[in-house]
Amino acid sequence: MRTYLVVGASRGIGLALVQELLEDPTTHVLATARSLSRSPGLQALTSSYPPARLSILELDVADPASVERGAANAATLLSEYEGLDCLIHNAAVLLQEFTPFEQVDIASLHQELYTNTVAPLHVARSFLPLLRRGLGAPASEKKLVFVSSNLGSLEIAPTFAGLCETYSVTKAGLGMIARKWGATLKDEGICTMILHPGYVGTDMGNSINSWVSEHLPAVQKISPADSAAQCLQVIKDARLEEAVAFYAYDGSRIPW
Ligand SMILES: NC(=O)c1ccc[n+]([C@@H]2O[C@H](COP(=O)([O-])OP(=O)(O)OC[C@H]3O[C@@H](n4cnc5c(N)ncnc54)[C@H](OP(=O)(O)O)[C@@H]3O)[C@@H](O)[C@H]2O)c1
Repeated sequence: MRTYLVVGASRGIGLALVQELLEDPTTHVLATARSLSRSPGLQALTSSYPPARLSILELDVADPASVERGAANAATLLSEYEGLDCLIHNAAVLLQEFTPFEQVDIASLHQELYTNTVAPLHVARSFLPLLRRGLGAPASEKKLVFVSSNLGSLEIAPTFAGLCETYSVTKAGLGMIARKWGATLKDEGICTMILHPGYVGTDMGNSINSWVSEHLPAVQKISPADSAAQCLQVIKDARLEEAVAFYAYDGSRIPW
């Protein structure tokens, strides 16, 4: 069995990643949600899949104690496996879609920065011992995936001037964490990657519909299921030698 952890799986792309992973009978998926009772999609999956295929953990990435608790619980759940094969950090918030820099709400910026940049570092650090377990064993392929956005690319940022300014800053920071940390983890045999899931029809994606249709009408929205299937293929195909790369859901590369 290959073991996957999807952090932020209550809805949207995270939930679709879990659904897609469960289609493969050789996976055991650990899915996290802030609150299982407010995650009906995830709850429904628990009645279709046995605990040997799907485990649920309650985890708020913005609460350090919750992250530590989640990592300890995951260690117990994975005691019979060679740790974790793939960690996908998907959780994020977008709080100021169209707010220009001059009007940014600083408290909201702190919240976005914590959830989108600091928390992925904390989560990855806390689960790293599980990712390291079994490293070097035959056929071991360990992957650390940060779901980000093309909005986090410094190179193409001017194309999106006026859209999700503070969110873009947080995703650029996440890219730096992945690029620097991933260079070290590569020496250990862990493949780190940054992944843009596309423009996806989720609560977050739909919140910027008006801007995209006005400024980039050629950009097509894809479904969470499509995004998840393509992202998982990119994750599967990613090679350690190419770490750390910034991938789009279709396997193309995004400039940093
Ligand atoms: N949709 C797009 O077009 C698009 C484009 C580029 C990148 N992305 C990226 O793709 C990822 C998924 O986005 P999405 O479109 O699926 O967004 P979404 O529908 O808004 O879902 C966001 C997910 O993050 C979780 N989350 C937020 N704060 C959390 C916290 N403190 N602790 C735990 N979980 C938390 C949410 O859980 P709750 O239900 O508890 O809030 C939810 O599961 C994000 O990293 C996003 O930046 C999306």
